[in-house]
Amino acid sequence: MTKKIVLCVAVLAMVCGFSAIGMAGGEGPETVTIDTAKKSGSTVTFQHWAHQGRAECADCHHSKNADGSQGPYVAGAEAACKTCHDGSIADKSVATAKKAAHKKCKGCHKEKNGPTKCGDCHKK
Ligand code: HEC
Ligand code: HEC
Ligand code: HEC
Ligand code: HEC
Repeated sequence: MTKKIVLCVAVLAMVCGFSAIGMAGGEGPETVTIDTAKKSGSTVTFQHWAHQGRAECADCHHSKNADGSQGPYVAGAEAACKTCHDGSIADKSVATAKKAAHKKCKGCHKEKNGPTKCGDCHKK
């Protein structure tokens, strides 16, 4: 069974009136909730908008070249990581969405003092 990925759009922000107190909106979903229950029994809630103040779109999103190598970021083409990182990627260190996410997320967190413990991202 494939992992369920639920994209939570900005409904909460509107309900809570964040825009009324001047918090800038971001692009794409405000938060992304990734169900990783299959193996880790948990959910990862990713603060997408908050991260847009910490990195450029191209730091996380990219495309795939015809030869299978990594292509440049193309605005408007931000497919889910698992679309490509489904086990078929040549570089085995990032073949799966789990490996790709761990490299990308933890890599930056180690550099910039973000959270790195399993429970910081995976909530039961
Ligand atoms: C720190 C990493 C990071 C940054 C920076 C970032 N994103 Fe994302 N974005 C993600 C992740 C992770 C997802 C969820 C992917 C998934 O579901 O596998 C996502 C999802 C999205 C989606 C929804 C895609 C879908 O599945 O429908 C859009 C649209 C998007 N991002 C646009 C942007 C834009 C535009 C920017 C720059 C203004 C940006 N993102 C910056 C990591 C990032
Ligand atoms: C359109 C297809 C595609 C999507 C969508 C995609 N990737 Fe990739 N990614 C690739 C390809 C192709 C490579 C290069 C693999 C290789 O060299 O064998 C790559 C390489 C990587 C790498 C290793 C190189 C580096 O930049 O450090 C990481 C980490 C990574 N992707 C993370 C992600 C994350 C996180 C997401 C979702 C936000 C994502 N990818 C979405 C195709 C994709
Ligand atoms: C380019 C750098 C970078 C990338 C890539 C990145 N993060 Fe972060 N993240 C940070 C930083 C920096 C913080 C700490 C912010 C602070 O403490 O003020 C953070 C904080 C967090 C937090 C704590 C809550 C919050 O948003 O402040 C979570 C959870 C998190 N990141 C999850 C993720 C996940 C999941 C990914 C990969 C999909 C990811 N991050 C990718 C830089 C990054
Ligand atoms: C910085 C955030 C972050 C940290 C820290 C982190 N993970 Fe993850 N992990 C993720 C994300 C995001 C995914 C989901 C990738 C996807 O499916 O798109 C994931 C996926 C997984 C999966 C795959 C789940 C499934 O259902 O296939 C397992 C297992 C896992 N992580 C275990 C761990 C363990 C064990 C640790 C500690 C050693 C850890 N993770 C630390 C963000 C993190």
